[in-house]
Amino acid sequence: KKGGYPHYMIKEIYEQPLALKSTFEGLISDETIIEAADLISKKDKIFIAAAGTSYHAGLVTKYFIEKITGRAVYTFISSEYKNIEYLVDNDTAIIVISQSGETIDTIKAMRSSKNRGGVIFAITNVIGSTIGREANYVVPMRAGPEIGVAATKTFLTQVLVGSMLAVNLGKSIGKINETEYNQMINTLSYSPNIVGSSISMTEGIMKKLPERFSSKNSIYFLGRGLGVPLAYEAALKMKEITYIHAEAYPAGESKHGPIALIEKDFPVFFVVTKDTYEEIASNIAEMNARDAYTIALASEEKLENLQPRLTITVPKVDLLLEPYSLIPPIQLLSYYTAVVRGLDPDKPRNLAKTVTVE
Ligand code: F6R
Repeated sequence: KKGGYPHYMIKEIYEQPLALKSTFEGLISDETIIEAADLISKKDKIFIAAAGTSYHAGLVTKYFIEKITGRAVYTFISSEYKNIEYLVDNDTAIIVISQSGETIDTIKAMRSSKNRGGVIFAITNVIGSTIGREANYVVPMRAGPEIGVAATKTFLTQVLVGSMLAVNLGKSIGKINETEYNQMINTLSYSPNIVGSSISMTEGIMKKLPERFSSKNSIYFLGRGLGVPLAYEAALKMKEITYIHAEAYPAGESKHGPIALIEKDFPVFFVVTKDTYEEIASNIAEMNARDAYTIALASEEKLENLQPRLTITVPKVDLLLEPYSLIPPIQLLSYYTAVVRGLDPDKPRNLAKTVTVE
């Protein structure tokens, strides 16, 4: 059943190129995403509601929609939605993201938005789910079934759907022309290959690294820009399956409190995306000065400016492709750390694959 792998989680990490290929081919096989983008572009407000890993995919989607279209996107954690639902009207598009399509908090956010006249655009892996059935537009992720409780391939396929939506919105709004549009879609078609090369570039070190800090009590993940949601996802994965306390912050925010915890050899991971090298370099220096064990996940580009104690090199890619180069080593890190700690990564304690209670 596990196809020769010891756990579903590692099987699903390795399945990502295939999953992304089927997501991409599905997206270009019909007009769903084009029609959805046309509709969303006509709305005054764009909201995103999701939980857990799907919320992090929502933050990545927000980043790309804002970057490409210049329009503001508001993201909400589903369980907090009731505090803002009064903001929804019939000029609001709500993007709900849910792997299972059955997360009760996200279902509630969807229903209350619909009642207020909002148009619901769902990104889900299960089209027959409650969310799949009740949304106005459904874009399937086509990741295939995910058995491991920790979301892996479903995260990157959500990110791909969100990025394709951002590119289509850019075209609908008139922010990008036909040539730019075709270039961006073509770029995204390489997402499966990037995941594949990122895994092969980093798996050796990610197998060894956990031994060094599997006994640590705490880890920080820091990033800037697109690196922030990727850092959030890294910390969630780490907490879920290794039970090590992991926190993520925008790197610049770490000075405003979190740095107080730093002592000798405290592991601090930097998720380094394009255009953040210079500022991240100074955050690394601050952490080095306090003897933290600094690790940078970065492409070779301008690497000499960063001075971490350890660099994990990922493929150098276009901004649109950075999630596919930076996320695989993060997934491998939490997987191998769980294994070193003698835990079953497929069955983390206290967690269910689908959360149907509030
Ligand atoms: C994390 C994880 C959870 C889910 C969250 C939302 O690895 O699996 O945080 O992402 O419960 O679930 P869906 O996407 O099914 O709504």
